[in-house]
Amino acid sequence: MRIQGKEYRTIWYEDNIVKIIDQTKLPHQFIIKDLKSVKDAINAIKIMEVRGAPLIGGTAAYGIALAIQESTDKKFINKSAEELIQSRPTAINLKWAVDRMMKKLTGINSDQILDIALREAKEICDEDEKFCENIGINGLKIIEEIYNKKKSTLNILTHCNAGWLATINWGTATSPIYHAHKKGIPVHVWVDETRPRNQGANLTSYELNEEEIPNTIIADNTGGILMQRGKVDMCIVGTDRTLSNGDVCNKIGTYLKALAAHDNEVPFYVALPSSTIDWNIKDAKDIPIEERNSEELSHVEGVDENNEVKKVLIYPKNSKAMNLAFDVTPAKYVTGLITERGVSKASSEGLKKLFK
Ligand code: MRU
Repeated sequence: MRIQGKEYRTIWYEDNIVKIIDQTKLPHQFIIKDLKSVKDAINAIKIMEVRGAPLIGGTAAYGIALAIQESTDKKFINKSAEELIQSRPTAINLKWAVDRMMKKLTGINSDQILDIALREAKEICDEDEKFCENIGINGLKIIEEIYNKKKSTLNILTHCNAGWLATINWGTATSPIYHAHKKGIPVHVWVDETRPRNQGANLTSYELNEEEIPNTIIADNTGGILMQRGKVDMCIVGTDRTLSNGDVCNKIGTYLKALAAHDNEVPFYVALPSSTIDWNIKDAKDIPIEERNSEELSHVEGVDENNEVKKVLIYPKNSKAMNLAFDVTPAKYVTGLITERGVSKASSEGLKKLFK
């Protein structure tokens, strides 16, 4: 998608270096950062220079290639794979991508291994881009149906950033919105700010602005009243891990939005590529929920009147804070799962029909 009129993907490989858009600097600064080693890739995932389930999967895949570029020693590659998987716990795409890379590289000799690793990492990214485009095409049909009944601007609420910045391109939740906009359907997006890291305000609103899609940032608690007053036609969110029974783990606050949507009969869709489905865990209680540093809550970053980035403390100095990054929305509150293969019910039967 576009930034200042120029097309980008979120990650690419050039001159032996992996390039990323540093998302900790957006929206105030647009900086392309170099990842030269697997350590750089692990760090970028941990401190969220790259984030969003599909993109951290793509970064981990390139992380394996960077490890091989440093050394073809088996022990080093295996240790790097383990550290990449551990770099963030909740999004299943990370392990999915590392496992796929390691499987591809099994038994490959050292003079071929780098080429094959780079090709597979690119393949993982290309595939994610294609899958997200298909999510858009499949989600567009739902938007069209709702629009054909309403015949005026559709108000779509989204949480966090499940936009192109969270994937390789297109996004998951935003892909149907981009497709609708390209088709001339008038859409307006309610963007949940998404405290504490403000991915909605900092990233979703930013990328929608760049594509000239009307959007309004709202505080995370505003969605409820907007739904009660008929100002939300549908919700679309992304996910970091969806279980085979349709339970959806996503950014903290998603569950409360789904409850409000259910109470107000607002359709609540979750968009995801199949790499985000966890076919193993059966009980949502077993999903590892990331707890991040409480400083993400107590401190806020922004620019001052001289355009200088400043970080300030907003809590009482001695207050304790707790920062859980994800929650789980039970399948019963999810209207449907929009995947690259089509739209399914959020249930084992629904998912089995699409993914035999
Ligand atoms: O902590 P983040 O910013 O990585 O969380 C991202 C989300 O919760 C997204 O909704 C999810 O990864 C889906 S991305 C297409």
